[in-house]
Amino acid sequence: MSITFDFTNMMADAIGDTHGIKRSEIDALQERVKAIDRELKNRRKDGTLPFFDLPYQDIKDIIKAADEIKDGFENFVLIGIGGSSLGPKALHAALNSPFYNQLTKKKRKGCPKIYFLENIDPDGLTALLDAIDIKKTIFNVITKSGTTAETMANLLIVRERLNAELGKREARRHLIATTDPKKGTLRRLVEKEGYKSLEVPEKIGGRFSVLTAVGLLPAAVAGIDIKGLLEGAAYMDSLTRSDNIWENPAYMKAGLEYIAATAKGRNITVMMSYADALSVIGEWFCQLWAESLGKRMTIDGKVVNAGQTPVRAIGTNDQHSQIQLYMEGPFDKTVTFICVEKFQNDVLLPRISEDGDALSYLGGHTINELIHAEGFATELALTKEGRPNCRITLSEISPFTIGALLYMFEVQTAFAGGLYNIDPFDQPGVEEGKRMTYAMMGMPGYEEKKKEIQEMVKRERLTIPPQGRE
Ligand code: PA5
Repeated sequence: MSITFDFTNMMADAIGDTHGIKRSEIDALQERVKAIDRELKNRRKDGTLPFFDLPYQDIKDIIKAADEIKDGFENFVLIGIGGSSLGPKALHAALNSPFYNQLTKKKRKGCPKIYFLENIDPDGLTALLDAIDIKKTIFNVITKSGTTAETMANLLIVRERLNAELGKREARRHLIATTDPKKGTLRRLVEKEGYKSLEVPEKIGGRFSVLTAVGLLPAAVAGIDIKGLLEGAAYMDSLTRSDNIWENPAYMKAGLEYIAATAKGRNITVMMSYADALSVIGEWFCQLWAESLGKRMTIDGKVVNAGQTPVRAIGTNDQHSQIQLYMEGPFDKTVTFICVEKFQNDVLLPRISEDGDALSYLGGHTINELIHAEGFATELALTKEGRPNCRITLSEISPFTIGALLYMFEVQTAFAGGLYNIDPFDQPGVEEGKRMTYAMMGMPGYEEKKKEIQEMVKRERLTIPPQGRE
């Protein structure tokens, strides 16, 4: 099982000096690379960046909790948002059938159906509660802070429904929390009402939490080999320890994106996966890259407004949607292809004629060959146009390669934070939105914020008069 990172087409040799990166530009980073590497390793040692050591954690409690859930319930609903949902969702999409819930229980290896309750859309929530039998359902409420309004609102509704339908005592069995070991409203509720719970280690924030109980419990409940995930992450850990950028794939990927963004105006980075299963990993990566690097201030207090906008695309679908823009639009993007060498299935295209008609060129090939050819063709076409692109290839999609890939992106992001000289682990922009929500909803202690909002909301507005039937 392997992962390769090919960055030939990011380089000046492939796409020319105007758009490509020179080896000397990468070499020029080397002193900073060593300093950032030292800092990350020190923080790993002093325990302030525990996400690095997640591949080696004890998962006994998670497996035990997952086994109990598999034995006792037909449905598993994850309540969470942002990092508390995208990681588990990405694992499920990558490693289970896209039609998992429609499979028979036997084909699901006896595992429950899996649902994600993320948004606070009243119709979405009602539709989900209408579709499942809550007497056969366990809800895993996940929030690191234990306070996020969306998650707590969904929890309140579900909890009340459970209490009403099952009685308080039985209802307790239908909720399991994953949250901070000590802090937050959810932890208080767990202590007060006696819900089962798992911990998100104190110094791990949402978007770096996929390899904690946040991602591992739902994955194990859905039959994913979580040991394999951690083995893959450990393998990537061994590959990303070098302080030489030329030997460290995560540092190299971060370095190339950093040079592309800051020296060549590539403010957008597209992650284009040539496998449906990897599409949600694209979403997860978008959150990781955007929320970690999109920062107003450096760590020493200078305004930088740093960050590169991540975009998710899917091959081949987006060849028929986005590629025209990537090929001929502004020179403001890098494209990263995520490819899979060997899919689980080989699908042969039937020959319907022998005589060179319009479809005969497809007959006898496989769909696998076609998707590889289309990915490669897109890569070559972008290169011809001087558009920087690179490729990460997974030998196959397995818990091992997915664990390795996610870990690589986390190290890449942590390291990129060092290059931008910003803190990749905070999210002041997200927090302000949360505070404003608390103020508008009347949370005690946010009275001043409420006044600030009232002064802000003077709008320029065009009203479109209502028409038609009531
Ligand atoms: O990465 C982050 O920290 C955020 O995206 C959070 O995951 C998100 O805001 C949800 O927070 P919480 O897990 O505290 O509910």
